[in-house]
Amino acid sequence: MAEARVRPMTPEDVPLAAALSSESYLAVDRRMQPRALPEPTGRSTGRTAWWETRTRHLLATDPGGSWVAEVDGEPVGFAVSFRRELTWVLASYAVRGDHQGLGIGRALLAVAQDYGKGCLRGLLTSSADPRAVRRYRASGFDLHPQVSLTGVVDRSAIPPGRHVREGDPGDRDLLDSLDRRTRGAAHGPDHELLLGHHRLLVSDRAAGSGYCYVEAGAPVLLAATDRRTAARLMWEALASAPVDSPVSVRHVTAANQWALDVGLAARLDPWTSGYLAVRRLRPPAPYLHHGSLL
Ligand SMILES: CC(C)(COP(=O)(O)OP(=O)(O)OC[C@H]1O[C@@H](n2cnc3c(N)ncnc32)[C@H](O)[C@@H]1OP(=O)(O)O)[C@@H](O)C(=O)NCCC(=O)NCCS
Repeated sequence: MAEARVRPMTPEDVPLAAALSSESYLAVDRRMQPRALPEPTGRSTGRTAWWETRTRHLLATDPGGSWVAEVDGEPVGFAVSFRRELTWVLASYAVRGDHQGLGIGRALLAVAQDYGKGCLRGLLTSSADPRAVRRYRASGFDLHPQVSLTGVVDRSAIPPGRHVREGDPGDRDLLDSLDRRTRGAAHGPDHELLLGHHRLLVSDRAAGSGYCYVEAGAPVLLAATDRRTAARLMWEALASAPVDSPVSVRHVTAANQWALDVGLAARLDPWTSGYLAVRRLRPPAPYLHHGSLL
């Protein structure tokens, strides 16, 4: 096989990278997902559009963080990474199925990590693919299993008096402060992107503060000063789920037992799925990380 060449990613590469990531993540889900869960499907048109928007946003804020691997001039893999304050984050990473296990992923991760070499801390969400786990552990990451909570919310379990309001761009400083306290670095410009795509809930009281971005009744990123505030935000998100429609709360680590408690009280089912990988950082809490913006 011809040698792979690694070069910087450009906005023109984004649609092909989106297709490549959808295809390789679907193959992992088909291999690894528990049989009791519904058959995995490819990414919807809406989710592909969001993947592309998010990747273009990261290319604009961090043009040096994303790379493509080519064989015979054809893209076969990519890595998208970025820095926020002194934390390096890997947003997305995949190699085409017929080129996996040949060392291309190792070369891509090395250049992406080089972009973060001034950062002490690192964060990423790992799939359950053994190849990914090998790469991340060899790169110095600690792996913490994640739980997903899925099912239809038992509305009779939703507690009253949640003291949560709608958030807006005026909350940016509060959001960044909560990020620094929980994960050691603000999301900064990523909040503008998230605000444009998700409902934002905020709780800011003398007893505690927190925020939560919501999609289809599930928290997709949540940070709080204390577990009680975090739980109230998660309940508010679940309460907004369409009646009788299943929700999926992802990325619950062992450091966030409060989220497991809320999910179980709402009668959701727990499944282990992938890992939170951290370097020189404890798993953030009370916190539910975003899959790619972490
Ligand atoms: C994860 C991924 C990007 C790595 O790229 P890659 O080109 O396959 O990686 P490499 O060949 O450099 O390294 C793979 C490692 O797994 C090993 N490996 C290869 N096939 C394997 C298998 N079937 N089972 C277990 N390990 C395997 C390789 O020997 C190598 O380990 P080593 O360097 O210690 O010898 C790629 O496999 C992929 O796209 N997977 C599906 C999508 C995914 O999970 N992406 C990561 C999301 S967080």
